[in-house]
Amino acid sequence: MVKRVRGTQDILPFNSKAWQEIERISRKIFSLYDYQEIRTPILEEPSLFNRSLGDTTEIIQKQMFRVLHERDQLVLRPEGTASVVRAYLENNLDRRYGVVKLYYFGPMFRAERPQKGRLRQFHHLGIEAIGSLSPLLDVEVISLSDRLLRELGISGYQIYINSLGCKDDKIELGRILRKNLKGRLSELCPDCQVRFGRNVFRILDCKKPRCQKVVANLNLGHDYLCSDCREHFQRVIDGLRAINITYQVSFSLVRGLDYYTRTVFEIKHNRLGAQDALGAGGRYDNLVGQLGGQDKGAIGFALGIERLLLVRDRTADSSSKQLVYIITLGEEADKEGVCLLHALRDNNVFADMDYSERSLKAQMRQANDLNARFCIIIGEDELKKSVVSLRDMASGKQEEVPERYLLNRLSSLGLTAN
Ligand code: HAM
Repeated sequence: MVKRVRGTQDILPFNSKAWQEIERISRKIFSLYDYQEIRTPILEEPSLFNRSLGDTTEIIQKQMFRVLHERDQLVLRPEGTASVVRAYLENNLDRRYGVVKLYYFGPMFRAERPQKGRLRQFHHLGIEAIGSLSPLLDVEVISLSDRLLRELGISGYQIYINSLGCKDDKIELGRILRKNLKGRLSELCPDCQVRFGRNVFRILDCKKPRCQKVVANLNLGHDYLCSDCREHFQRVIDGLRAINITYQVSFSLVRGLDYYTRTVFEIKHNRLGAQDALGAGGRYDNLVGQLGGQDKGAIGFALGIERLLLVRDRTADSSSKQLVYIITLGEEADKEGVCLLHALRDNNVFADMDYSERSLKAQMRQANDLNARFCIIIGEDELKKSVVSLRDMASGKQEEVPERYLLNRLSSLGLTAN
């Protein structure tokens, strides 16, 4: 038997309800904050990510899925931000006045070693707000992530926030890190010793206890921030406080992608284990320029949907659909049942029937498994009298209803969908 690729998941019928609910709630909140949906292709040119995520990042070095077709060399997108900025420029959305606010859902691909909460095909729900340098936009984006998590029924998460500063500040931060880590290289894991030369920021993300101990002793602060970036960060903090968003400043939060500048944030949940980030985001004020446009202030975030599902307290609402299940006994009843099924659906009643020609008992069992609200039974007796038997599956009560009044009766029971 052919099996699914390691690190991918099938979303089965009994799980898809929770996915739909996450999308429904997210769309409602995004629309409340005036964001509109964008859908970009899964296939992109490799150069899009090389130019935006950074050559020395883990994603570019190790995790890109490459697709070769004849002379085409493409990649499966590892994240959404670069694609959204590409689409924004390619479709002239940069000519619009004000902030362009976009949201997206979709699969992302990274060739990582699979473990709990870490897949090779996973799904993002994210937003990007492009066109403003205002710290008030940072406050909106962070508060939106907080509101969304609450609406999704998630509690117990913590928002960590930091500022990387502008391009020059980041260079200065790199210099400070190298200076402070130089004498302590032997205390770091072999991977971090390589990272020291290649991308010193990555050492701050290392999960190994020995590296975390070294990082904790670095006494990091915001010395590398210029006065503008310092003020920007202060205004973000003030704005979050003014609307009572709980956050924690983390000086070691640097994020794994090169495009970030100024505000970065990460949302963690302790029930997730080693892969503890529910989502993350930040500003990328140089990315639009780097991809060929005019520099624009921009900020966004993405949440990992599989991880949201791991920590969600609420189970999917199963009460929304009220199924009516038609049970037929005999060939004549089958014919009648098919016409009735058609009529019910035409009148927006959620309806189904058993196509297996089994006994009444077997069909009733099936109705139970499907959580049907009512059964309509059509047998010889019913046919003779031009009625159907309507059975309430919860109470077991059964009544005979003349066929021509059935729709009225179902409507009085609240079974007609809007
Ligand atoms: P990221 O931190 O790479 O950021 O991914 C965001 C979230 O996606 C993570 O916090 C995690 O929940 C989920 N995630 C990442 N990798 C995996 C994986 N292998 N398996 C399961 N879930 C995963 C970004 O991608 C940025 N584009 C976010 C952003 C948007 N920044 C600005 N705008």
